[in-house]
Amino acid sequence: MSIRARIEGVGHAVPARILTNDELSTMVDTNDEWIFSRTGIRQRHIAGPEDTAFTLSLVAAQNALANSGVAAADLDLVIVGTVTGDMQFPSTSCLLQDALGATKAGAFDVGAACAGFIYSIANATAMIESGMAKHVLVVGVDLLTKIIDWTDRSTCVLFGDGAGAVVLSAVEGSDRGVLKSVLLSDGSGAKHIHNEVGGSRYPHGSPQAEGRCHSVYMNGNEVYRFAVQAIGDACLKVLAEAGMTPDQVDLFVPHQANIRIIESARERLNLPKEKVFVNVDRLGNTSAASIPIGLSEAAAQGVLKPGMIVLTVGFGAGLVWGANLIRW
Ligand code: ACO
Repeated sequence: MSIRARIEGVGHAVPARILTNDELSTMVDTNDEWIFSRTGIRQRHIAGPEDTAFTLSLVAAQNALANSGVAAADLDLVIVGTVTGDMQFPSTSCLLQDALGATKAGAFDVGAACAGFIYSIANATAMIESGMAKHVLVVGVDLLTKIIDWTDRSTCVLFGDGAGAVVLSAVEGSDRGVLKSVLLSDGSGAKHIHNEVGGSRYPHGSPQAEGRCHSVYMNGNEVYRFAVQAIGDACLKVLAEAGMTPDQVDLFVPHQANIRIIESARERLNLPKEKVFVNVDRLGNTSAASIPIGLSEAAAQGVLKPGMIVLTVGFGAGLVWGANLIRW
């Protein structure tokens, strides 16, 4: 009998501090009207000095474990999708594994920017379906506000911080679980969005790093063009591979970067507005955290019900993109 990876629990965490568009407009030359009309964002939660990828992940993971009924000690694997881990190494997943007491779990981070959760779910599903793991914790977490240039109005208005987590377990004889995933990439687009200093090419403090951008660089127009095409393509591909059509989707939880990008995907899939989960207005772009936070909020609001067909899609720096199709 075939094994499925079923989502048994969800949880999330965001920092307490809220930064509104009005407050941002006292920091850089911008205003609520511009930000809201171009992005759909009204406010975002931003990390304080004490918040890190680990601290937010820990709360989200504890919530997801409690919601699932799976004990940390029974986890076989901890996967964290992030590009803003606590340190270059060790991985944030190892810090989390230790704090949770997941004593028999392997742990690794996945670096796929805003698609980190999509990639992590695909990894977890493959591990479960192959029989390598029974219980897997997947976290998507990012604190991009720690690495953006707060004087650059073209990027600093877009991002917020947060973490979302799910627990997946192996189930036999159930039609509920992750049905299909598609993962895609185009590294030739690395020039459009990156944070180049701090790695082995331009180490911090090195002559090579001098004059380079030490924070997030983004060509917004190029990323926008790419995203609009890529997410529609990924959604149609994952649906086709599952032998399904867009009208069978009950809930669409896309990466929350910009309401106009979400709207273009909704139109291409011909989905009614009530089937699309949106929280970009309250949280901004939380990168790898946006989809699991969306799932966790939808579950808490009673929007997500067992048996629903849920389509998730993400895109980000790499360029990378992908989608997961889930029977909830
Ligand atoms: N406030 C006021 N004006 C601004 C601001 C601001 N915050 N930012 C830019 N502007 C100005 C520009 O300077 C420009 O002025 P000009 O015409 O005088 O030159 C004008 O507004 C228009 O700028 P555009 O960049 O063309 O605005 P656009 O409508 O394209 O919106 C945006 C920009 C919101 C960034 C959009 O391109 C976008 O959402 N791109 C995708 C970003 C994204 O999704 N990233 C996700 C990946 S993140 C990851 O992987 C980590």
